[in-house]
Amino acid sequence: MSINVALDGPSGAGKSTIARAASERLKYLYVDTGAMYRAVAFYVLSKGLNPENKDEVVGALAGISIELKYTEQGQRIILNGEDVSDSIRTPEISMAASAVSAISETREFLLSLQKNLAKENNVIMDGRDIATVVLPNADVKIFLTASAETRAKRRYDELVQKGESVTYEEVLNDVNQRDYNDIHRDVAPLRQADDAILVDSSALTLDESIDKVVEVIENKIKAKKVSAREIPEVQPVVKGARPPLWKRICHEFLRLIAKAIYHTYLDLSFEGLENVPKDGSNIFASNHRSYTDPILISLKPKVMFSFMAKEELFEKNIFFTILIKLFGAFPVVRGSGGKQSIETSLERLNKGYNLVIFPEGTRSKDGKVLKGKTGVALVAAIAQVPVIPTGIVFEGKIKFRRKVTVKFGKPVIPSEIGVDSCENKKVKHLRNEIMASITELVEGKSDESEQENVNKL
Ligand code: DC
Repeated sequence: MSINVALDGPSGAGKSTIARAASERLKYLYVDTGAMYRAVAFYVLSKGLNPENKDEVVGALAGISIELKYTEQGQRIILNGEDVSDSIRTPEISMAASAVSAISETREFLLSLQKNLAKENNVIMDGRDIATVVLPNADVKIFLTASAETRAKRRYDELVQKGESVTYEEVLNDVNQRDYNDIHRDVAPLRQADDAILVDSSALTLDESIDKVVEVIENKIKAKKVSAREIPEVQPVVKGARPPLWKRICHEFLRLIAKAIYHTYLDLSFEGLENVPKDGSNIFASNHRSYTDPILISLKPKVMFSFMAKEELFEKNIFFTILIKLFGAFPVVRGSGGKQSIETSLERLNKGYNLVIFPEGTRSKDGKVLKGKTGVALVAAIAQVPVIPTGIVFEGKIKFRRKVTVKFGKPVIPSEIGVDSCENKKVKHLRNEIMASITELVEGKSDESEQENVNKL
């Protein structure tokens, strides 16, 4: 689907210059519909017809073919095969264009050309009735205006620079006359669409006006993307469920074996055990150092864990697969957009398992905490369960008896920090809180009283 921006406003508000510059920045096509009316006016005058005479103008339309071409010099307007882009910018053509544009047949004649361009391209289309008539469903609607005096001064300077001999008063009169015509005509009069954003450029320089318009477009498109994304509903997990007894026995047995192995192989200690809830249905959000992190985390709390693991890990070898499955691993299917892993996570939490999630999404090579993704916060926001920030710290390089500390931080409870829905802003806030805690645990900014809680096994 193409993105359509409608930019309307009175003549001389700087629409075409601003729209051209904004479309260059955003890589959209710039469509100057005023130039199309000017081309019609040019044709009418060149045939010696009266632009105020409806019958004469309507009769002339059959002889007109208009095309837009995009070259290095920007949009060029081609009238019956001839490039008239430069000849249509005179005050005489301006007045004639205003007259022919008040005729409904002229508007009808140009409408399909304008609509087709917008259907096939991302466009910024400028004119008078773009938001109200041509593209009523435009993604962004801007009404760009400036006081009549400012507009007249700008047009006057432009014309003088081109060597035209006009007075400021004449230009101001023209501006007022055209405003009056455009606003009071019966067909598609100039007016701000109800849902258009007003930008008044009277007090802005050209660069400031361009920045403003680009900012409005970008913000609107961003907001549209966010609102288009489905916001999941909160489905609070009711605590108290427990995994089946046989699984718990099996897990306890494995936990004891793993504990013995890990304590032999590593110089392992735990901190912050008072922060580990006794019940299940919690999320442990940890930094990620090695494949065995989920096992390291689940050695101490007695509740069964479940964790997401890349699909490929289940294809390594059969023993490894059985082992990680017994420890509660479930595969994350790529390309499912995270939906499937969120559903499985919620199902496990509802069954009373604790979940281990690595918000960084990948292992950190140098031990520094990477940027966190929002998945963990989203699951916690939907389920409204506590998140226990967890930091795994490896010290030294030796393999055998390497010093490893697993640190549990204070639980982050979504509802206590205002996260009572899955709104993007709130989920991000939760993610930031979790990541800040993990970083503090890993990168050692924790205060001294916490150090006293070191709990050696
Ligand atoms: O923007 P401009 O000055 O080049 O426009 C020339 C005339 O065409 C102006 O008087 C208003 C008219 N116009 C219109 O009626 N509808 C449009 N979409 C664009 C221009």
